[in-house]
Amino acid sequence: MTGKIYLLNGPNLNLLGQRQPELYGADTLEEIAARLAVQAQAAGFALRALQSNHEGQLVDWIQEARQDARGIIINPAAYSHTSIAILDALYAFDGPVIEVHISDIHAREAFRHHSYVSARADEVIIGQGTRGYAMALEKLVARLA
Ligand code: DQA
Repeated sequence: MTGKIYLLNGPNLNLLGQRQPELYGADTLEEIAARLAVQAQAAGFALRALQSNHEGQLVDWIQEARQDARGIIINPAAYSHTSIAILDALYAFDGPVIEVHISDIHAREAFRHHSYVSARADEVIIGQGTRGYAMALEKLVARLA
């Protein structure tokens, strides 16, 4: 193992598979995280997959990542569009950060077009469905190599 990668998911993503499947697909978060753990392990990393509906919990995990993780994959969900606190926590993290959005936020309501988190993200993957998480992990591993 060459270190740990955090996979952080924000509010309502615990409902993946049930929530608006026409937008977010049929995969559950557990299925996505299990696939990503295998992919991470093959690349020599351990995956810590976490989801919360609470902004402060996400901030706490990003702060933990400062000591514990080499890189972060984050789908901040609705907090993308509102949370300076999550942005600031990510600014305090030194490793690479990849932001994922399952849906194409630019093709949806205007209030989804801007993500605060993107100001810190090294790369942003948008509108690739749940495959976007695997793409994010590939990009993160390449940056950590
Ligand atoms: C999302 C897009 C956000 O606008 C929305 O609030 C989400 C999910 C996505 O993955 O497409 O909850 O981040």
